[in-house]
Amino acid sequence: MPTGKNKRLLRALRGEALARPPWWLMRQAGRYLPEYRAIRAKARDFVELCLTPALAAELTLQPVRRFGMDAAILFSDIPLLPYALGQGLSYREGEGPVLDPIADRAGIVRLDLRQVIPRLEPVFDAVHRVAAALDRATTLIGFAGAPWTIATYMVEGGASRDFRRVKDWAYRDSEGFSALIELLVEGTVDFLGAQMEAGAEVVQLFDSWAGVLPEPAFERWVIEPTRRIVAALKHRFPDRPIIGFPRGAGLLYKRYVTETGIDCVGLDAMVPAGYARSRLQQLVAVQGNLDPVLLIVGGAALQTAVRELCRTLGGGPFVFNLGHGVLPETPPENVAVLAGLLAELDAVT
Ligand code: CP3
Repeated sequence: MPTGKNKRLLRALRGEALARPPWWLMRQAGRYLPEYRAIRAKARDFVELCLTPALAAELTLQPVRRFGMDAAILFSDIPLLPYALGQGLSYREGEGPVLDPIADRAGIVRLDLRQVIPRLEPVFDAVHRVAAALDRATTLIGFAGAPWTIATYMVEGGASRDFRRVKDWAYRDSEGFSALIELLVEGTVDFLGAQMEAGAEVVQLFDSWAGVLPEPAFERWVIEPTRRIVAALKHRFPDRPIIGFPRGAGLLYKRYVTETGIDCVGLDAMVPAGYARSRLQQLVAVQGNLDPVLLIVGGAALQTAVRELCRTLGGGPFVFNLGHGVLPETPPENVAVLAGLLAELDAVT
């Protein structure tokens, strides 16, 4: 039985190639699971659900119980950091997070870093509970949104198509915008540091909107803040691996990997596996990157894609995952099929 440092995910993140790669799925808890929907239907609202430790812990454990992934990812959401800083947050049915938008420097002044730890105490409580409940083979992953992605939600007030407001601010008044990013760097270090203290063994930084920035802006708002967060967390917790997921970074993935100090890079489904093997996997562990739609489709298409991906990336440090989150339409049976396909790899090699 693997214990402590021998957990499969931790071995891969330290650079080991494993015949059967460790696996987990972004958004592995959620609406595609009937047991999630049952709890969700009873909760008054989504923020309250995330801030109720017993329920957040239960939702974290649901997919692991059903499918036996190598990792549990804390059940929470990325806009909880702006919420803790003092920004109003709510969820509208099927739309995702809605925030009272921050438009300028005056909006930043109202945010209060000192509230982050006290207001997110229930999240750390949930981490404690999950850490106590997991078996010795399963790794607990904490997470946060990266500053650029969090800033897009804070400035746009929610999801956006063209990122006009946030880009407008970043280009027009980069010093003012940088004050917001600075604050988010500090808040994220506090937030992730406290998750680590509570028992998160790995953390992932989700930069879901990294791919909308041209290179100079990517360097300033994606690479630089990430590098500072990684450095601060490594100072406090030198042995805890950090996964960075700059979704859509394309040709800038390589710079992200070499310049941020992350231990593992999450790849979206558009990154060619051959490129990841020859250009990225020598530098860090790679994670990804099955198209989430294949998990809806299932059957031969799923089987072929999973085997091909594992053949290409399995020779180096590799964490099997999707290229983005599990979609709500995904049949849970297909996740069980995926678990079976990955388990077979142990026998093959
Ligand atoms: O991975 C997990 O299972 C852990 C939980 C988790 C959630 N959100 C729960 C959630 C994680 C890691 C996230 C990350 C997250 N949240 C990201 C980064 C990853 C990505 O998808 O790019 C982003 C951008 C968000 C913001 C967010 N939260 C959106 C855009 C939405 C709406 C879309 C959707 O899928 O519902 C949410 C809501 C949300 N976050 C739900 C869950 C389970 C659904 C809420 C509900 O039940 O109504």
